[in-house]
Amino acid sequence: MAAQGGGALSRKAGALSGAAPAPGDKSISHRALIFGALACGASRITGLLEGDDVLRTAAAMRALGAEVERAGGVWQVDGAHWRTPDQALYFANSGTGARLVMGAVAGAGIGAAFAGDASLCGRPMGRVLEPLGMMGVVAKSHGGRLPVEILAGEDLSAVQCVLAKPSAQVKSAILLAALGANGVTQIHEPVLCRDHTERMLAAFGVKLGIKDDGEAGRFLSLAGGQALTPTNVSVPGDPSSAAFLAAAALITPGSEITITNVLVNPLRAGFYQTVREMGGDVAFENERTESGEPVADIRVRHSVLHGIETPAARAPSMIDEYPILAIIAAYAHGETMMRGLEELRVKESDRIASVETGLAACGVDVASGEDWLRVRGQGQAPKGGARVKTNHDHRIAMSFLTMGLASAEPVEIDDASMIATSFPEFFQLISRLGGEIIARQ
Ligand code: S3P
Repeated sequence: MAAQGGGALSRKAGALSGAAPAPGDKSISHRALIFGALACGASRITGLLEGDDVLRTAAAMRALGAEVERAGGVWQVDGAHWRTPDQALYFANSGTGARLVMGAVAGAGIGAAFAGDASLCGRPMGRVLEPLGMMGVVAKSHGGRLPVEILAGEDLSAVQCVLAKPSAQVKSAILLAALGANGVTQIHEPVLCRDHTERMLAAFGVKLGIKDDGEAGRFLSLAGGQALTPTNVSVPGDPSSAAFLAAAALITPGSEITITNVLVNPLRAGFYQTVREMGGDVAFENERTESGEPVADIRVRHSVLHGIETPAARAPSMIDEYPILAIIAAYAHGETMMRGLEELRVKESDRIASVETGLAACGVDVASGEDWLRVRGQGQAPKGGARVKTNHDHRIAMSFLTMGLASAEPVEIDDASMIATSFPEFFQLISRLGGEIIARQ
């Protein structure tokens, strides 16, 4: 049953088994729509995530002048030269959509206004507007937050910059703006973060220099004035969404499941490495490459887990997976210490606070600091039995519903509606695998 609004409750229902496909990758879905809309001509996208965040980006692409149609499960995007939209582009809860499109609007040489929901209006946009400002973009904002307006008509110049935070959204916004800048933009990434924009720009015919320099990180260079050539994109399954299914199998005795067609790009796969280090029986099978990205089927069995320390350097490759990792840690023997989490404070909610409050309510020994979270598991199912506040955060909602599939008492969440932003089929897939989640009004 899909949750339309209201809360939800999960409870123990025995082992999980069978196979389920992960929903399309959210990061790649946004990029496929944006790049398709920038490329003059028709691009076809299969496997697109039809979650609310991505549908907002599709609507923004239409407002900017592209034709975006869905027919028979395939999305066709007819790109065009972008025009200034009549109304503000509304991104609801989606930081990725808003930040990437800011860069693309700047690169297209047009103006546009950007708006979002209460959560998005609280998130920092200055991290994108500052480098765009260095390129000559003139923007108005509400103290570095939405609503934002990018003004048309400035000539952009290339920048040479160091990515202070390993943020793929910031990097992507700069690269998209660089497409319309005079000169060669150079970005130094001391710590690597997801590289879907680089891979997909290449697929759309853009020449991008990538030089790896060991411990110094990666150097990117992109010459402005390049046009995108339409192409077809096959979107692989989202490893961040698959992590909830994997976690459900890891913590529920007797389980064995396979999640098919999952993106296993090393810059996204930190969660899977971590749960293996915790003793998780997780195997990548049938590894292959699709649309320039590595993909595998992931087989997961219930496992006896032990706590570990996760290094700060790994954070960018599993930044969205810490809430569900904290749930897994609550089932493990001993202490799991997660470091380097400062970015979790500015996600869809303050995820360190949301996780800590929820776990404590479920009887778990948990503590946190500005950039760390520590969970002490007892090597057995935690108590559960609480109603957890999700703070309108889809990953908090799915994390605690996953916890309740194996905890001693059911776990309830106050609001399941945000799950539709990234994983609309979550309820159906859990139920297909044998888990029990009940929607509540
Ligand atoms: C994303 C990058 C990450 C991630 C987000 C998606 C992307 O954000 O948390 O869910 O698609 O580029 P940051 O760039 O803020 O780290």
